[in-house]
Amino acid sequence: MAADKQLAALAVAMLALLAAGPAAGLVHYQSYLPAGCYVGWFPFVGKLMCQTLNPNPSPKHAPTGNGLSPDYYNSTCPDAEYLVWEAVKNAIDENRGIGAGLIRLFFHDAFVRGADASVLLNTTASNNLDTERTAPPNANSLRGFEVIDAAKAAVEDACPGVVSCADIVAFAARDASKILSYGSIDFDVPAGRLDGLQSFANETNTLPGPGSSLAQLKTMFAAQGLSTADMVTLSGAHTIGTSRCRFFTGRLSAMDPAYAKNLSAACNGTGSPDNRVDQDPFTPNDLDNQYYKNIDKFVLFASDAALNSTETIGQVTANANSPTKWQSDFAAAMVKMGKIGVKTRASPGTDGVEIRKVCWKVNSNY
Ligand code: HEM
Ligand SMILES: *[C@@H]1O[C@H](CO)[C@@H](O)[C@H](O)[C@H]1NC(C)=O
Ligand SMILES: *[C@@H]1O[C@H](CO)[C@@H](O)[C@H](O)[C@H]1NC(C)=O
Ligand SMILES: *[C@@H]1O[C@H](CO)[C@@H](O)[C@H](O)[C@H]1NC(C)=O
Ligand SMILES: *[C@@H]1O[C@H](CO)[C@@H](O)[C@H](O)[C@H]1NC(C)=O
Ligand SMILES: *[C@@H]1O[C@H](CO)[C@@H](O)[C@H](O)[C@H]1NC(C)=O
Ligand SMILES: *[C@@H]1O[C@H](CO)[C@@H](O)[C@H](O)[C@H]1NC(C)=O
Repeated sequence: MAADKQLAALAVAMLALLAAGPAAGLVHYQSYLPAGCYVGWFPFVGKLMCQTLNPNPSPKHAPTGNGLSPDYYNSTCPDAEYLVWEAVKNAIDENRGIGAGLIRLFFHDAFVRGADASVLLNTTASNNLDTERTAPPNANSLRGFEVIDAAKAAVEDACPGVVSCADIVAFAARDASKILSYGSIDFDVPAGRLDGLQSFANETNTLPGPGSSLAQLKTMFAAQGLSTADMVTLSGAHTIGTSRCRFFTGRLSAMDPAYAKNLSAACNGTGSPDNRVDQDPFTPNDLDNQYYKNIDKFVLFASDAALNSTETIGQVTANANSPTKWQSDFAAAMVKMGKIGVKTRASPGTDGVEIRKVCWKVNSNY
């Protein structure tokens, strides 16, 4: 990385640190992370700030799924899942990349405050504007919000005030998985999530970054109640969608030379860090097991290549050799991820819940 790029990364990290404020307030929420520590997102500075990462966090919320059930809307809004499917199908027919966006949206929702649609807010009850959407892992990156909004409008029309945005995000990720895998990945989504009232940019540091080591990936998934095997399974989502050049041009020399040359051309060397490339150079639009065949010379991130480790290579090879094994593992891991930290009628949590009327704002701002 050129010196000016290091400085730029440093400046961004310092800004993030300042924005995070004093180590008070919400730091208890994921106390295994020091305030302002974004693991694997900012080279150099990130490493310094994350030195005290607790390697054995106890999960804040075990993904038990208490309060969720399949066919949750069967009597209160029988067309809910069909209407979401329709919105997702229409969007993917226009742009297959949106399917990748919807799957990632679900992941970024679940890992921050649980699967409570906090990722969708761009304004909150306390008029907090620095919501999750503005944070480094999400800004200029997450996509598919308008699909969630369209799905929500359709279900509100059919049955007002019944279907939560958090459930819509989970249904949409399932539908995108089914479409992008040509029907090979299909699963029931237990539902009954309620929507949270809060969203804070600084809580997104529970999301692992592209520079994360295997130890850090394991820790950050464990903190959510997910296993190392779940982590390996879910990382397979990097067989679709795109990434900005900034996250991988520093490690081109570790890749297949011909591939690195192509990437370098697409990224203008390191000159255009916001250019985007496909994550999977072979079948970029298909949710398949190609990711595992790409490890480790045809994957973009250090966090992807980290799966070429003694502890994980067995599962990587098994997934590379058996598409059906990975497909069923992926379905199960998506269901499990959707159970993280859910707020339900049985267990509403302490920060307030509702069923939003519009997915990007709380009802008190409606
Ligand atoms: C294991 C740790 C993970 C790391 C470090 C990571 C990191 C990243 C990064 C840096 C990007 C590129 C973002 C950009 O350039 O704007 C990305 C894209 C993506 N990630 Fe991950 N990710 C991880 C796990 C996951 C999981 C669990 C899923 C879903 C199950 C997922 C789904 C995606 C998808 C679909 C994209 C492409 C999004 C698009 O094209 O809009 N990732 N990830
Ligand atoms: C996170 O941000 C919120 C609101 O901006 C603030 O009240 C809180 O103190 C911050 N937490 C940390 C750990 O910096
Ligand atoms: C809806 O599903 C629940 C279980 O998920 C079941 O108990 C209930 O009888 C179903 N209702 C209808 C109308 O099918
Ligand atoms: C919030 O996001 C939605 C898309 O989900 C967008 O339509 C809306 O204009 C945004 N509002 C603000 C205040 O940024
Ligand atoms: C590099 O790009 C060329 C031209 O698009 C393509 O034919 C080739 O397959 C690519 N090679 C790799 C390894 O990605
Ligand atoms: C390529 O990168 C250089 C900086 O290294 C920049 O000045 C130039 O505008 C970039 N060219 C394109 C086409 O993006
Ligand atoms: C993967 O890890 C093994 C064992 O550490 C190493 O020898 C190899 O070079 C790495 N890369 C590939 C492509 O196997």
